[in-house]
Amino acid sequence: MKPIQLFDTASSTYTYVLTDPQSHQAVIIDPVDTQLSRDLQVLREQGLSLVWCLETHAHADHITSAGKLAELAGAQTAAPAGCGIATASHQLEHGAILKFGSEQIQALHTPGHTAGSMCFVWRDHVFTGDTLLINGCGRTDFQSGSAPAMFHSLTEVLFKLPENTTVWPGHDYQGKTSSTIGIEKATNARVAGKTEAEFVAIMAALNLPPPKRMSEAVPANLRSGLRHDAHVDVTKQVNPAAGYAGDVHPKLAWDWVQQGEAVLVDVRTDAERAWVGFVPDAVAIAWKQWPGMVSNANFDAELLAAVPPECKVVFLCRSGVRSVAAALRATELGLQAYNILEGFEGDPDNLAHRGQLGGWRFHGLPWRQG
Ligand SMILES: [Fe+2]
Repeated sequence: MKPIQLFDTASSTYTYVLTDPQSHQAVIIDPVDTQLSRDLQVLREQGLSLVWCLETHAHADHITSAGKLAELAGAQTAAPAGCGIATASHQLEHGAILKFGSEQIQALHTPGHTAGSMCFVWRDHVFTGDTLLINGCGRTDFQSGSAPAMFHSLTEVLFKLPENTTVWPGHDYQGKTSSTIGIEKATNARVAGKTEAEFVAIMAALNLPPPKRMSEAVPANLRSGLRHDAHVDVTKQVNPAAGYAGDVHPKLAWDWVQQGEAVLVDVRTDAERAWVGFVPDAVAIAWKQWPGMVSNANFDAELLAAVPPECKVVFLCRSGVRSVAAALRATELGLQAYNILEGFEGDPDNLAHRGQLGGWRFHGLPWRQG
């Protein structure tokens, strides 16, 4: 039984799929966000049902797809307890066992690359993440790394595994795919035959540049990759829209209002503002009115009276439907109009409850009730 080894060329990351031949249940280790559709296709083609998405650590060089993959495939996420990945549903301690079908994986805490890093043992295989690499090891100079801890993890934890254990690394930059504990113990240039002091000196002399994607990857990976602003800070970005100036995050809209750049117009009904809550600094100009949701015949006149021509207008509604209609109309009236994404209450969750998935209130912006 071998794992399926998958490779991401952009980050030289190996992702592994482990399968139970009887139940066809599977585990994925260190999935990469840009390979989500490939990984789903592999699962589909092999007829596998994914039960666990595992991380060896919070990566600095790529963003995980664990959160999305878990949701799309109906799996659960698990991550080392020491990595601070709070969104993972299972926090793994040293020695933890994860079952899939009649198979099991054991987690080994192997600090060094990061303080929380883990390796995973399955049958006579070990998935070593960025702890043990083929003829190398993960760097120890950032992200809670420690060369003495790495030396201990390599020599006292991993090299105590049976010598015929296959080593499956988290990366390889030379196209090598696997090794064994016996080979690494005998030949690994960083650690074989070295004292701890020699190893620490080797690691200190590496002088590696920081990973290119560290500043975006680490925060995203601490949320299982479930971060809409992983690539750009969406709270500061204007997304151009067809027919009006753009869509903006509630926080950016609020910044503009505070700086006097924009007028905030709440286009919900009087009833919604009265019963659900309102933003004290917003101008209330309903797009439609309850009961009956009839269009507000005075919308244009009220809007032009409220918004000076040089000022932006940002529209807020419940979840971003009426505010788009209002932004389109305001543009026709010659205003620089923006829609506030997510609205006052955000999108409904799977219980149809609003307020949990984004929105003005969710982001902690000012509002009142009554
Ligand atoms: Fe790493």
